[in-house]
Order: sequence, then structure tokens, then C-alpha cells
Amino acid sequence: MSFDLDQLVRENVKRLTPYSSARDDFHGAAKVFLDANENSLGSPLPRWYNRYPDPHQLKVKERLSSIKRVPVNNMFLGNGSDECIDILQRAFCEPGLDNLVICPPTYGMYEVCANINNVQVKKIKLTPEFKLDLGAIEQGIDANTKMIFLCSPNNPTGNSLHPEDIEAILNNYFGIVIIDEAYINFSRQRSFITMLSEYPNLVVMQTLSKAWGLAALRVGLSVASEEIIAIMNKIKPPYNINQASQELALQALNEIDQVNEMIKEIVQEREILSAALVNLSFVKKVYPSDANFLLVKMDDPLAVYQKLLNQGIVVRDRSRVELCEGCLRITIGTAEENKTRLYAVASIS
Ligand SMILES: Cc1ncc(COP(=O)(O)O)c(C=O)c1O
Repeated sequence: MSFDLDQLVRENVKRLTPYSSARDDFHGAAKVFLDANENSLGSPLPRWYNRYPDPHQLKVKERLSSIKRVPVNNMFLGNGSDECIDILQRAFCEPGLDNLVICPPTYGMYEVCANINNVQVKKIKLTPEFKLDLGAIEQGIDANTKMIFLCSPNNPTGNSLHPEDIEAILNNYFGIVIIDEAYINFSRQRSFITMLSEYPNLVVMQTLSKAWGLAALRVGLSVASEEIIAIMNKIKPPYNINQASQELALQALNEIDQVNEMIKEIVQEREILSAALVNLSFVKKVYPSDANFLLVKMDDPLAVYQKLLNQGIVVRDRSRVELCEGCLRITIGTAEENKTRLYAVASIS
């Protein structure tokens, strides 16, 4: 068996004639645009907001291309990586027929999206050490398994998956392998983006929502072969990244030094908070984290959650999630926020 993209794509997607936006039909410098039913008088905002944005987001992609060292044609931008998740499922998974694999505990949207798209989800749990269970994955895959979602570093456990386990999957499974690297910038692991040329079935997702601090803009990134990217482009909404987000993302992408400083500070704070939490009597375990959050196991997580909430501090209750029993997930805040939170948590004991 080998990878055959054409066999994986849904028939209706293969047959699809994509929407062609007004500006797709015209190349060159026009004086007057009367092709897209925009408001030619302008807008209450800076004048250019009356125009539809670049559907291909070329400027943002060019900047990202030089940062990530990936050609523009190997890049897809989504309205957050959440849109990439949805588009990948809709491109490859036939509702009511195909299935996909996730490895819980993991990011919730893979499953929610599959439920919306009526795609069966095969849940193959991580081991108690939060490692991939390669044997169970091999057993769980069948002829209709179109894709596997791997999250590294994983949310909510915080650990990176072992690269050799991911490679074992890439070498032996010929559906689409999606590696969600939303938190990669907080980790010492190398991105799988560098492996793109070796694996035609690999899709790496990253986002501007975490290390780049741009969650409000909704810009997520998928990197894959030109062929996979072309399929994603075929089915995306024409103007999925709005003009304001494109402009602001472009501006932010020039500030890489500032972002690197923030990453350094968050990683330092993570270690400080982790060391302090471990010392609290009711904290059973602080899991090692490669991300911008900590998974913390404690005696009575719901009581701690409620008491923090009473002080206006919101953390994420993961105590009912399998393999995360007894755990809260705490995002690393500013040094000041972390101190306040630690004080609040310590006062609970
Ligand atoms: C693992 C993971 N992937 C993707 C996302 C969503 O990213 P975006 O904001 O780009 O949609 C999150 C958000 O928390 C996440 O934890």
C-alpha cells in the first residue's frame, strides 16, 4: 500500500467547481472596480475597507513563508486553525461512511467538528504516560480511516508526543496525518514542518493564537504538499481571512523579536509556577509542560476551581476528562497574574 491522494479525496470535492470570486477573473491594474457589488463611495472606516480582501492572503503568506521557510504554495490560511480542522475533514471524510482517529485526552474541536460533519470518531486513548499507543492505533485503523489528528504539544496534557512515534505513524499509515502544533513555540521539539518533503500525507497546523498573541484575529496555518493545499483552497469560503486580520497579522509578523521575548517570559513563568505549585500540600502532581499551560492534579479540583472562581480567577476544569482525573488546566499568565493566582491557590489549603 502507498499514499494515493486521489483515493482519499471525497468524490464531490473532486467534482466541485469552486466559487470564483470577482477578482479571480481579472489580473492587472484596474482604475475602476465595478465587479463585486461593493460600496464604491467608501466606508466609515479607512476607505479601502469597502473592498473585499485578498482571497489568497498573499502578503501574509509571503511573510509567513520567510519566517517558516515554507513556499507560499505549501501554505493554507484558515479562520483560526479551527477552520483548517473543519476544511480537512470536509475535504476527505465522507459523512456517515468514513472515520478519523483522535488520541484523547486532546483538543476538543477535532471531535466536535467530526460530530458536526457526521464523521465517525475513533478514540484511541493516549497511554497513562500520555504517549501514543501505537499498537492500538494500528488495530483501530480500517479502510475508511481517512485521517489521524495528533496534537504535539498536546492540549490539555502539555507534553510533546515522541517524534519517533509520530514518524512510525507517518511511515505506516497512508491516510492524512495532521500534526497540530498550536503550542510548538513553547517547546524544544523541532516542528514537523521540516519533514514536509518526506511525507506527502503530512499536514502541520500552527496558529497565530498562542505564541503570537493574536487569538482575536483568527489566523491559523496549515502546511502540506501543494496538492493537499490546492484541495483545501478549493473548498474554503472565498474571503475566509478578513481584511483587518490580514493587515494586523502582517504588521505583527514584523515583530518577531517581541514575540520571542514573550515566549521566553512565558516559558520562565511556567517553570516558576510549576515549582511553586508542586510545594502545595494538596497538589499531587504538576505534569511537565511544553506549552503555555500546566496540567495540575490535586486532591479536590472542583473545590479549588470554585474557590478560584469566587476570587474572579478562571481556570479550566479537566477533572472529568479521562486520564486527567483530578486535574485543572492553568494557563500561564503574566508574572503578576501568576503571583495572584498562586497566592489564591495557596490560601485555599
Ligand atoms: C491544540 C489546539 N489546536 C488549535 C486550537 C485553536 O486554534 P485557533 O485559535 O487557531 O483556532 C487550540 C486552541 O486552544 C488548541 O489548543
